[in-house]
Amino acid sequence: MRSYSLVAPAKINLYLQIVGDRPDGFHELVMVLQSIELADLVTVRPIGAETIQVRCNHPDVPQDQTNLAYKAADLMVRQFPDYFAKFGGVEINIQKRIPLGAGLAGGSSNAAAVLVGLDLMWNLGLTHSELQELGATLGSDIPFCISGGTSLATGRGEQLDGLPDLHDIYVVLAKYRDLPVSTPWAYKTYRQQFGDTYPKSVSEIETRKQQSRGMMAAIAQQNLAQIGKLLHNDLERVVLPEYLQVQQLRDRFQSLGVLGTMMSGSGSTVFGLVESQAHAEQVREQMKGAIADPNLDLWVTRFCPSGVRLATS
Ligand code: C5P
Repeated sequence: MRSYSLVAPAKINLYLQIVGDRPDGFHELVMVLQSIELADLVTVRPIGAETIQVRCNHPDVPQDQTNLAYKAADLMVRQFPDYFAKFGGVEINIQKRIPLGAGLAGGSSNAAAVLVGLDLMWNLGLTHSELQELGATLGSDIPFCISGGTSLATGRGEQLDGLPDLHDIYVVLAKYRDLPVSTPWAYKTYRQQFGDTYPKSVSEIETRKQQSRGMMAAIAQQNLAQIGKLLHNDLERVVLPEYLQVQQLRDRFQSLGVLGTMMSGSGSTVFGLVESQAHAEQVREQMKGAIADPNLDLWVTRFCPSGVRLATS
């Protein structure tokens, strides 16, 4: 048995609409998810003892049972106890580049990489959809992180329909280092503030879902200007008033004339879309010059057509 190193990409939300409540306590969503090149590197390595160990180069990442990557390994152990008994445990090593509490699905992507990695290490031969079904029991974004690219995500976010790949689109990400936003807080606050507007009938739910049609058409036509204009995220309604620094990043991107700007997921990352690497680097420098805060992190990255994949060493 050998080790496997996997690239675990981050995602951004080009579209996040909260349609209403679900009987399971989650929200019914319509999202367009997009993988980006910014990625963690996750290595799974066989170890003799029947244990799961997590190591990470980032001091704030938990190395115990609370880490989603640990939970993914534990799920595989419970699903395939004979393989665990036969081959022994696993060490998971995470090289973190995706910021934490950022709305970029870093933790979900790590968990997705562990599922894919253990499937390879134990030679289980599971299909993508079998791995996605397992992943969905741990987190709504994990199925997308396995397949990646550009995708419509509905239900809790785990029901996926692939969309045409979007090429040559560059992204500038901006995030304050010590400003995580809690995803459960964002959804809970949204429900408190807007729950009384949630649709009551099936037909109203269907009507609301149609609001994403413009974005779907823009993606089908690869119309970048239109995609930029139609970016949407309902969670901005609760996060921006509470986190003024996030609002400030958004305003700044807007003033720099990017194709579109939006908070990703529940934040606190804000992204700006641009059409070339040169322009993206210029926008990054302008953001740095305009805000001049040592706690502001900025990245230039681009859309990527795949989810978790083997690293080429
Ligand atoms: O599925 P995941 O663990 O990523 O979700 C984190 C939290 O976000 C959930 O505990 C829930 O509060 C909220 N959420 C939601 N509806 C969704 C997805 C997430 O309310 N469809």
